[in-house]
Amino acid sequence: MANNLLKGKKGIIFGALDENSIAWKTALKVKEEGGEFTLTNAPIAMRLGTINQLAKACNAEVIPADATSEADLTNLFTKSMEVLGGKLDFVLHSIGMSPNIRKGKQYGDMNYDWYLKTLDISALSFHKVLQTSEKLDAMNEWGSVVALSYIAAQRAYPDYTDMAQAKAMLESIARSYGQRYGSLKKVRVNTISQSPTKTTAGTGISGFDVFFDFADMMSPLGNATAEDCANYIAVMFSDYTRMVTMQNLMHDGGFSGSGITNALVERLSK
Ligand SMILES: NC(=O)c1ccc[n+]([C@@H]2O[C@H](COP(=O)([O-])OP(=O)(O)OC[C@H]3O[C@@H](n4cnc5c(N)ncnc54)[C@H](O)[C@@H]3O)[C@@H](O)[C@H]2O)c1
Repeated sequence: MANNLLKGKKGIIFGALDENSIAWKTALKVKEEGGEFTLTNAPIAMRLGTINQLAKACNAEVIPADATSEADLTNLFTKSMEVLGGKLDFVLHSIGMSPNIRKGKQYGDMNYDWYLKTLDISALSFHKVLQTSEKLDAMNEWGSVVALSYIAAQRAYPDYTDMAQAKAMLESIARSYGQRYGSLKKVRVNTISQSPTKTTAGTGISGFDVFFDFADMMSPLGNATAEDCANYIAVMFSDYTRMVTMQNLMHDGGFSGSGITNALVERLSK
């Protein structure tokens, strides 16, 4: 059900690794809504993933960039404007990685070099994206920049370890940069806090299946899927949300507003 919501809009989509990725679903949705974009991911992820398949389906060019590298980001924004023939209207930052989680490290046994890498890849990269875009004057007025967050930024989850700090920082960057970019160029900056979702990044967290089911039972609408998230991102890129900025938007089927639900009471009463 397409509505041409993004007709004439141009942008960059970070983070489509495979068909489960939230960025992958978003690319398909944005295309369906009439948007044009370049796709990007870290060079190593491109070798492992299947981004070229998506590029073909979306008629999009792929421009590799490690989101922690200012040089790569400058090249990405410059080339994207060339390829798309003008300034951008939207950017999706859909990037997360923790070497500590990957290597199964407990929160009491963090490797601090990896901790810094987590913050650089999953949070600071968002500042680098915004700063690069501002320096190159790459966004049109009323442009929209979205990054993806998780409720572990506000509440403790034992196995989310250093990613919790990365998400808290990511949300803080959206507020601070949103204030700056809004007053300078009328560009909006928000984070969307998404339900647990079965992707490579999501399922890499130990105990994922349990907290996926728990969140589903705690959410009156159930967990939001990657497709639901893509729909919401399309709306956030559209002109219907022009006055929304500096927000962390809960996209979680009602999880964050629930104390307990009947589904959980019934389950725990057994
Ligand atoms: N899956 C979930 O449960 C869930 C819930 C809430 C928020 N999120 C967030 O959604 C976003 C997208 O994750 P996903 O679930 O689609 O998983 P995913 O694994 O498909 O996507 C993560 C992406 O980050 C990319 N990436 C890693 N290091 C990079 C670097 N240095 N430079 C550029 N890209 C790099 C990966 O290649 C991958 O494409 C992440 O920010 C994640 O934290 C996920």
